[in-house]
Amino acid sequence: MTTHIGLLGCGTVGATVAEMLLTEKAMLAKRSGQSLALKRILIRDTTKIRNNKIPANLFTTHPDDILNDPDIQIVVEVMGGVEPAKTLSLRAVKSGKLLVTANKHLLALHGVEIFRAAAKANSCVCFEASCGGAIPIVLALTRGLIANEIDQVVGIVNGTCNYILSEMSSTGKSYSTALAEAQAAGFAEPDPTLDVTGGDSAHKLAILASLAFGTNVPFDRIYVSGINTIDDMDLRFGRELGYVCKLLAIAEKHSHGISLRVHPAFVPQKHLLANVNGSFNAIAVVGHASGQTIHYGRGAGGKPTASAIIADIVEAAMGTAPLLFKQLPLLTRRSTAGVIPIQDVSSRHYLRMMVHDKPGMLHQITGILGKLGISLAAMVQHEAHEDQFVPLVIMTHEAPDGKVTQAAAKIDRLKGIRGQTRHIRVIDPAP
Ligand code: NAP
Ligand code: HSE
Repeated sequence: MTTHIGLLGCGTVGATVAEMLLTEKAMLAKRSGQSLALKRILIRDTTKIRNNKIPANLFTTHPDDILNDPDIQIVVEVMGGVEPAKTLSLRAVKSGKLLVTANKHLLALHGVEIFRAAAKANSCVCFEASCGGAIPIVLALTRGLIANEIDQVVGIVNGTCNYILSEMSSTGKSYSTALAEAQAAGFAEPDPTLDVTGGDSAHKLAILASLAFGTNVPFDRIYVSGINTIDDMDLRFGRELGYVCKLLAIAEKHSHGISLRVHPAFVPQKHLLANVNGSFNAIAVVGHASGQTIHYGRGAGGKPTASAIIADIVEAAMGTAPLLFKQLPLLTRRSTAGVIPIQDVSSRHYLRMMVHDKPGMLHQITGILGKLGISLAAMVQHEAHEDQFVPLVIMTHEAPDGKVTQAAAKIDRLKGIRGQTRHIRVIDPAP
């Protein structure tokens, strides 16, 4: 029996999924015992030049050609954004079609509604491609690590940001050049602001944390700070001190709740995560029985994402996905743990300020830190040359985030400080 598939979207990801379904049909049938037939593809712009391996008669600009077609059993949403993706996804599941989606933005904001609608209609939602590109991290959290209470998830989950930071650090490329290259390679979101401000990583963290901790994660409780304000001077100082800057998505279990945050972080050079470069992603998961497992692979781009989507299509066609979907509420509604605000989360910190090179400044700065109970671990100041303002770098011991933010604001008000203190958290994920 043939399973018919409709695609909503034919951009970087959709076009690769379409091409693979068409050209690798025989291989997929051999491996899965399923005959998969791509029937229609929804697009918006009929004037665009398309992949010539996709027959022109598959394209339509009318969603009804897919959603009202009784032959189509699997709908793959690769349009992105919230609307019309939400409306079309809900229509698909409500009519009993199985939904495969790569849209983490939609799931992080409206996943509960879509999952409930799918469950009610005896349909299902598969979302492996929403996090970590080709890495089967959803499978790992829902099956492979099921025997574990998960204590921590720390991940590099945005290929665009990781590409930018790696290129800035290794080749000295500018932020804007590296971002343009990531866009050209198909790693970035249609609106790359979502990548660089940390929003895309936060969407993925909401999904991963809900699977890891068995709770619905309110997206607006995730602390989010992106890489768009990173200065290459800080990347150089970090290197001098033995650290590499990465955009991390972190979910941790504490005795009194969970903490959820996305921010640039200095990771010790020797840690595996510090050595994840380019568009690669890596997600370190700590389970009470497994210890740490690290899941590594290409996190963005057409082919890696299509790899995860086609795996979901096969599971849907084989009938295993609907069975796994039935188990999902058991996994995601286990806990009601509250979210701890970022102010109360402790870590080490890197602070860099531009200080007027005159007597007494250091005394004032260390005085502010001391009064707030922040202890210093290291300090770097190079000799001033032409400018009277010199960068002063301070590494702290563990201190609550709120205290450090407070100290930075006080330091910024001192006479003799130029601009704003740069603040990067220092994270050493569990070995
Ligand atoms: P994209 O290149 O911008 O493609 C989006 C596609 O959706 C285009 O074909 C576009 O049609 C179509 N589309 C958008 N709005 C539409 C509308 N209102 N009506 C009809 N068609 C519409 O995006 P992408 O990079 O493939 O990403 C797609 C999804 O996958 C997003 O949710 C993204 O977050 C996710 N994802 C992407 C990657 C990646 O590496 N790129 C990785 C993982 C997940 P036209 O072609 O006619 O403009
Ligand atoms: N824009 C995303 C990224 C795509 O760069 O990681 C993969 O989800």
